Amino acid sequence: MALILTKENVMTVLTMKDCIKVVEQAFLESNKGTAVLPLRTAITPPDGLSLYMPAYLKKMGALACKVVTVYKDNPNKQNLPVTIGKVLLQNPESGEVICIMDGGYLTAVRTGAASGVATKYLARDDKAQVAGIFGAGVQAQMQLVAMCEVRDISKAIVYDISDEAVNNFIEKLSKKLDIEIIRAANADEVLQANIICTATSSPTPIFDGTIVKTGIHINGIGSHTPNARELDTAIIKRSKFIGDSKEACLKEAGDFIIPLNDGDIDESHFYADLGEIIAGDKPGREYNNEITIFKSNGLAIQDAATAKLVYDKAIKAGIGINIDL
Ligand SMILES: NC(=O)c1ccc[n+]([C@@H]2O[C@H](COP(=O)([O-])OP(=O)(O)OC[C@H]3O[C@@H](n4cnc5c(N)ncnc54)[C@H](O)[C@@H]3O)[C@@H](O)[C@H]2O)c1
Repeated sequence: MALILTKENVMTVLTMKDCIKVVEQAFLESNKGTAVLPLRTAITPPDGLSLYMPAYLKKMGALACKVVTVYKDNPNKQNLPVTIGKVLLQNPESGEVICIMDGGYLTAVRTGAASGVATKYLARDDKAQVAGIFGAGVQAQMQLVAMCEVRDISKAIVYDISDEAVNNFIEKLSKKLDIEIIRAANADEVLQANIICTATSSPTPIFDGTIVKTGIHINGIGSHTPNARELDTAIIKRSKFIGDSKEACLKEAGDFIIPLNDGDIDESHFYADLGEIIAGDKPGREYNNEITIFKSNGLAIQDAATAKLVYDKAIKAGIGINIDL
């Protein structure tokens, strides 16, 4: 029997707090060698892109594969969203598929959770901090939710080139998080914040890294191809650079690859994987005035850990439909 979970089912059981815990464990498993994480496989049918993201977390007992498609013409041609994701969860002892669940909300929460874990280890721990969010789309919302989970955030400043996206963001999150959220008139205004998340679809840098104040922590989650970047060379050079995975950063993160190829940094500028910081192999933030960056490409271990969490909670709550496939 396989349990089928819709987006609404996933939303009912999945909380950011729980997700941060399991995503932290997933990064630790990766560090300790109990995770299997092949790089994602891409297939390009004529009209789009199909990505396959498998992972296995031995201690957690999570074996899963997410299938994500990106078809830019979907809204016009098929009346479907650009990005569609589903997760298939297996029983690692029998191989049986035990659950198929929607992956859209799950992806946003697990991406927020990775930034939450990084922020916990890398950002300053002052009272009443200001969060700065670039982008006001689906991912950006969960970035702010995660920041509020791990730090004392009293205010957020959000900037997006779309007014509609910002209005929607403020309307949705002001009540939910019970904090002041204001719209930035320009990108520079966001740089007043102590913790910044970049979650845009921009392929080019979204702020001037030379004017960023010291002491700040940045989660860069948007770009994930070798030729696209949200962060410029200046901010990369000024920062202690942590990635979700060195291998993924060197293959997918233009934010790191472009300055590397230009000769502005060398590979040793990559300070650590997030798992190394969690495991205590290397210290996270060491000084109040250092600038730290966490670059997230999005790893299948985050999906596997989150899918297992959702499945366990859904079984406990008696949610979803069982189908004999
Ligand atoms: N790291 C990860 O694990 C991960 C996971 C999912 C998505 N992503 C990536 O995150 C990005 C955002 O995804 P989404 O689902 O929120 O998309 P979205 O389309 O919902 O939102 C993107 C927002 O960025 C805004 N934007 C574009 N250029 C900008 C600029 N220069 N300054 C400010 N705002 C700008 C757009 O107006 C839009 O509102 C995408 O690049 C996506 O591929 C990363």
